[in-house]
Amino acid sequence: MKEQKSFSSSIGAIMAAVGSAVGLGNIWRFPYICGKYGGGAFLIVYLLFVFLLGSVLMMSEFVIGRRSQHTPMKAFASLSPKKGWMLVGALSIVTVFFILSQYLVLAGWTTEYVWDSVNGTVASLGTDAGAISSYFAQFSTGTWMPVLMLVIFSAIVLVVILGGVQKGIENVSKILMPFLVLLVVVLCVRSLTLPGAGKGVEYLFSPDFSKLTAEGILAALGQALFSLSVGMGTMIVYGSYIPLNDNLFKTAMWITASDTLIAILAGLAIFPAVFSCGFDPAGGPGLVYCVLPNVFNTMGSAGTVFSFIFFLLLAVAALTSAISLLETLTAWFAEHTRVGRKTSAVIFFFLSTAFGILFSLSVGPMSGVKVIGLTLFDFVDRLNSIYLPPLTALGTIIFFGWVMKEDLIKDELSNHGTLKTGYYPLFRILARFVAPLALMVVIISGILM
Ligand code: TRP
Repeated sequence: MKEQKSFSSSIGAIMAAVGSAVGLGNIWRFPYICGKYGGGAFLIVYLLFVFLLGSVLMMSEFVIGRRSQHTPMKAFASLSPKKGWMLVGALSIVTVFFILSQYLVLAGWTTEYVWDSVNGTVASLGTDAGAISSYFAQFSTGTWMPVLMLVIFSAIVLVVILGGVQKGIENVSKILMPFLVLLVVVLCVRSLTLPGAGKGVEYLFSPDFSKLTAEGILAALGQALFSLSVGMGTMIVYGSYIPLNDNLFKTAMWITASDTLIAILAGLAIFPAVFSCGFDPAGGPGLVYCVLPNVFNTMGSAGTVFSFIFFLLLAVAALTSAISLLETLTAWFAEHTRVGRKTSAVIFFFLSTAFGILFSLSVGPMSGVKVIGLTLFDFVDRLNSIYLPPLTALGTIIFFGWVMKEDLIKDELSNHGTLKTGYYPLFRILARFVAPLALMVVIISGILM
């Protein structure tokens, strides 16, 4: 039987893409930077960036993918006579590979904490902040456990990809995304009903324009792109799977809105509890792996349950994102070789896991190995946050706005003239002028910082 290379329904397509977008970025990074850069003030800027730029980039990738029915490199090559644009596709494959390898490390830590919530390790750490931090430091810099957990997680991702586009990705997303919403809502209810929860809500939402610095605005833009998984070719691949009669504009809006809503819910699940239990919010891994276990342990035995729910939520979010990353590499390799989907998936499972292990070890035993003064993990973190994604996004949007034929774009967005596209004039301006300029600012400031 020939493998079905498209999603079976609009809802399946939306669930899969929301699965890609909702990841570690929503659950721990968004809440933290939102609080840090002025709460409500940051939120306004973030919403503008997400809807005016993020969704435009997403629609461009969908158009490129669905029109060409190819993976990134061939997609660019088939839509323009100038074959050099293929390089943007190549860059996106490199980006996806490094993001996946790094993502696996964090996902492995999350898997460990799911297990630690079940076997009582998290609970046994009590409410001593020092004990929890040193447990995290000891675990994450270890050799075997992080690697073992990484491999377990990565194998689960592989199994889903081997299931295929409909039976694997689509079906798993259709189950896991509603489940994820349920988990985050349960946590929100708990968090918001704790005494003194209001302080956390205030931290997240009350607008403080004095904290909204230039750095904060850049962070909002970077986060908007990262959170929607745009500018990396993943949405080109998923775009090629979107049913031909779906409205790409509506699809992109649903995904953008869901991704943003889940990020806000995650903030409401985290900060009211953090403040209510008398802790300070921290940034980076410290927030979820050190502060939150502290918070859960102040809740007594119910805390064990909430700890499990929280880390499961994080693991599910990471899983559907990792699935879209491995799928991008798999589909790309299968298109360029004769080895087929399954073999491609296995090859990239091994490659990304091997690099993931290398990055994991660079947090611990190999921390002496440095590239431009950074450990391998910090180096790839920089590549993945500051350099590669905005560069790929810029290449994609310039191609879309200035190289690809406008007739094709209009035809694809309107499903051959059958849909209304009143948004088009604004969309076109955003895609041709605003988005490239904004991305250039991000890239230049990234280099200068
Ligand atoms: N959007 C994901 C998150 O919020 C991370 C991510 C960035 C991603 N680029 C991606 C996931 C590409 C899948 C594919 O955590």
